[in-house]
Amino acid sequence: MKAKYLKFLNQKINVENKTIAVLGATGSIGSSISKYLTYLKANVIIVGQNEGNLIKLKEELLTISPANSHYFVVDFKSRQSINELIKYLNSFKIYAIINTIGVYHIPLRFVNGYDETYLINMLNNVYFMREFYKDERHKKTKIINTGSISYCYSSIKLDDIQYLNKNNKTKHYGNTKRLLMLYSHYLKENGYNVELAHPGISTTNLFNKKHNGYANFFYVLIVPLMKIIFMKPDKAALPLLLALNESNIELNNWYGPKGIFHSWGYPNLQKYKIKEVNDSNLYSNIINEIDRELLNV
Ligand SMILES: NC(=O)c1ccc[n+]([C@@H]2O[C@H](COP(=O)([O-])OP(=O)(O)OC[C@H]3O[C@@H](n4cnc5c(N)ncnc54)[C@H](OP(=O)(O)O)[C@@H]3O)[C@@H](O)[C@H]2O)c1
Repeated sequence: MKAKYLKFLNQKINVENKTIAVLGATGSIGSSISKYLTYLKANVIIVGQNEGNLIKLKEELLTISPANSHYFVVDFKSRQSINELIKYLNSFKIYAIINTIGVYHIPLRFVNGYDETYLINMLNNVYFMREFYKDERHKKTKIINTGSISYCYSSIKLDDIQYLNKNNKTKHYGNTKRLLMLYSHYLKENGYNVELAHPGISTTNLFNKKHNGYANFFYVLIVPLMKIIFMKPDKAALPLLLALNESNIELNNWYGPKGIFHSWGYPNLQKYKIKEVNDSNLYSNIINEIDRELLNV
C-alpha cells in the first residue's frame, strides 16, 4: 500500500466510520480496496467466495486497524447465496457497496442455462442490485459497479444477448460488462444511487492460470509481460474508491485511469458511450430482456 495513493484518497474521499461492503474482497483489486478503506477508518464488510481467504484478509485488516471488520461468504452463481448475503447486509446501515466480483479467463460453462461469465458478471450482479434496493432503508446506499474498457469492443445483440456465437473471449467478457454498465445506467437514470468505475488494465488474478481459460503459452509468455507493462492492483483500485466521493456524478460519467487509452494512471472522471442507450426501442428491449431473465433461474 503506497503512502502516495493513501494521501491521494485522503484528499478526495471521507469514509471515516462509514460502513462499506466490498464484494470480491479477496480478489486482487478488491483486497486493495478493503485495505485502503481500513486505513481510512471505514467499517469494512468483506464479502467473497472463499472463507479461508476471507479469514486471512480479515486478519490482515486487523493489523491495519482494530476497527470492526466483518466477513460473509457468497457465491455469485447462486441466487440463494445472494439472497443470504442481502439478508446479512440488511442488519447494517450501509453507506456504500463496491462490487468487484467478476470473471474473465474462464472456459465457456453453463449454469442453469446461462453462460457462467454472463451469470456472474452481469445477470446476478443486476439481481443483487434489484433485490438489495427492495429494502427502503438502502435507498440512499451507493453501489459502485466495476465496468471495463473492454465494453467498447462489443455491441449488444438482442438475439444473442450472452454473445455465445462469437469465438472471442475479450468481446464475450466485454459484452457482459457492457450489459452491466447499461443496466447500471438505467438504474441511475431511474433514481438509484448506482455508479460505475473501471480499473483500466492490471495484471491480476483475473488472468490466473487456475482459471484454465487459455492455452499454457499465454500464462508463460503473455502474463509476465503484462505484469511489467500494466498497473499493479493497488493503483488500479483507485478509480473505484474515488467513486465514493460525495460530488454529483452525471449520467454517462464514470471514474477510470486518465492515462493512455484509459488503461493506466491516476483516476479522473470520464465519459462512457453506450450507443444502445440512445436507441430508445433497443434500450427498452434490452432492459425488458434482462428483466425477463431475472424472473428465470
Ligand atoms: N484486472 C483488469 O485488468 C480488469 C479490467 C477491467 C475490469 N476488471 C474487473 O475488476 C474486477 C476485479 O477483478 P480483479 O482484476 O481484481 O480480478 P480477481 O482478483 O480475479 O477478482 C475477481 C473477484 O471476483 C470473485 N469471484 C469470482 N467468481 C465469483 C463467484 N462465483 N462468487 C463470488 N465471487 C466471485 C473472485 O473471488 P476469489 O477471490 O475467490 O477468486 C475475486 O474476488 C472484476 O469485476 C473484473 O472484471 C478488471
